[in-house]
Amino acid sequence: MITPFRHFIRHLHLLFDDATLSTTQRQQQATQLLKTLVQQHSWLPRAYAEPDPDRYRQMLLYADLHERFSVLSFIWGPGQQTPIHDHGVWGLVGVLRGAEIDQRYKPAADGSLHLIDATTLNEGDVSLICPRQGDIHAVKNAYEDQVSISIHLYASNIGRIDRQLYENDGTTRPFISRYQNASVPNLWFEDSDSM
Ligand code: FE2
Repeated sequence: MITPFRHFIRHLHLLFDDATLSTTQRQQQATQLLKTLVQQHSWLPRAYAEPDPDRYRQMLLYADLHERFSVLSFIWGPGQQTPIHDHGVWGLVGVLRGAEIDQRYKPAADGSLHLIDATTLNEGDVSLICPRQGDIHAVKNAYEDQVSISIHLYASNIGRIDRQLYENDGTTRPFISRYQNASVPNLWFEDSDSM
């Protein structure tokens, strides 16, 4: 049943409509909304929860038409991981199933990247990504033998914005992540075909 996701989206609209909120307040309130969402397990349509054997998938679940925010599911097959990348906008990651390891990097004086932190995010955990605090990271499935799924909120249309990929020596390459799906879930379709 997709109802919890519809409620999440409705409340996100209220948050982004409310011009009195600071970014920090918006992040804090969105964190609570995402925590509530990932504590519920039967709303994500199966088509947005299936792994690809070759690489992790990023599926658009919802995009605000004013491009103020977007919501995606990331599906990690066993052992799958991202390259090192940044985001350019703040975001939240909430783990719906399984666990993932968030490896944070910081540039040294010579530009090379150093791993400064590796945090395991477990089911129900929500983590903030914020460019002001340093948002260069790589993420991998914590499991070598099972699928993990996380729900991501970004404060922009993340699939369309210019970002960077990084090598360990600090070399960068521009990229635009795009979306892998041609359609988004119907927020009013109360079927039973969900994970
Ligand atoms: Fe990321």
